[in-house]
Amino acid sequence: MKTILTGLRSNSVLTLGNYLGALLPMVRLANKHSNEAQVNIFVPDLHSIISEVDGDLQTNIIRNLKYYLAAGLVTNDNVHIYRQSHVPAHSELCWILNCVATMGETSRMIQYKEKSKGQESCNVGIFDYPILMAADILLYSAEYVPVGEDQFQHVELTRNLAMRFNHRFGEDIFTIPVKTADQVKFMGLSDGVRVRDLLDPTKKMSKSTKAENSKIMLDDTPEKAAKKIMSATTDSLGKIKFDMFNQPGISNLLQIEALVNDRPLDEVVEEWSGKTSYGDLKKQVAESVKTMLTNFQTKLSAISDEQVYELLNEGESYANKVANAKLYEVQKAFGLR
Ligand code: TRP
Repeated sequence: MKTILTGLRSNSVLTLGNYLGALLPMVRLANKHSNEAQVNIFVPDLHSIISEVDGDLQTNIIRNLKYYLAAGLVTNDNVHIYRQSHVPAHSELCWILNCVATMGETSRMIQYKEKSKGQESCNVGIFDYPILMAADILLYSAEYVPVGEDQFQHVELTRNLAMRFNHRFGEDIFTIPVKTADQVKFMGLSDGVRVRDLLDPTKKMSKSTKAENSKIMLDDTPEKAAKKIMSATTDSLGKIKFDMFNQPGISNLLQIEALVNDRPLDEVVEEWSGKTSYGDLKKQVAESVKTMLTNFQTKLSAISDEQVYELLNEGESYANKVANAKLYEVQKAFGLR
């Protein structure tokens, strides 16, 4: 059985962009394949501590898992949810892979360069982040790793480390994840599906942007979210068209409308193309977002902590079994066992 694996860092409440661009597509993918693949969804809590956490980490971890459930994740025998820090093999394999990876290739990671830029002293975890991520993936022989574009380089690094390791030990201990270009095809996502910042639609919607109205958070009241849509930046061209380059604000609204209603973008674009009232479009999108958030928040509040812990029990016992078996093979290869 193939394994599909992914994780989403949970240092704070997620934005609508994280939800529509990453979490929801993952849930749909998981549901589609959960009869013929193992689906591992984990919280990379050890990755969380490379930087400051917004509020309490425990709260964030459990909320993150509830998000998946509220988004409709099926929970059959093939779907496993777990916390990275509850499977010690991740840290152990990370160390071993540290001795396979080179300073050169790890220093070239864009995320590391960006996160360390301008910092007086950068912690080693920021540097080592992709190696831990490689361990997350390789322990479970995952072929498919649905992630956002910003993580593609890390998946490519994972492939290189796995190939190097296999080559060195003359055995196919690690399964090589498929190339990121093929990951995208598997996910069925067209390139560049990114919800944009509402005030500056040339940028991605991000939780770290200060301006409140630039982003919608999953815990915003539906009314507040609708208001933010109404105040989104558009343009002065006066004609509705999907054109990310010249009309990023309008294009973003069309994108949100499609994603929130799970409708093909083409269809939504067709429906609005050539119309001239930006106000009507905003009202429609605001209404859609309001309805979506209302439903989502209702589902979220119905999920208890106990429900999550029960799933974690199953998931973590599965994860430890699979991960420890793979770790043992690696330890033997190096002569550690
Ligand atoms: N780096 C991912 C992010 O920032 C999270 C992550 C950690 C991950 N380990 C992973 C994703 C392994 C996929 C597979 O969101």
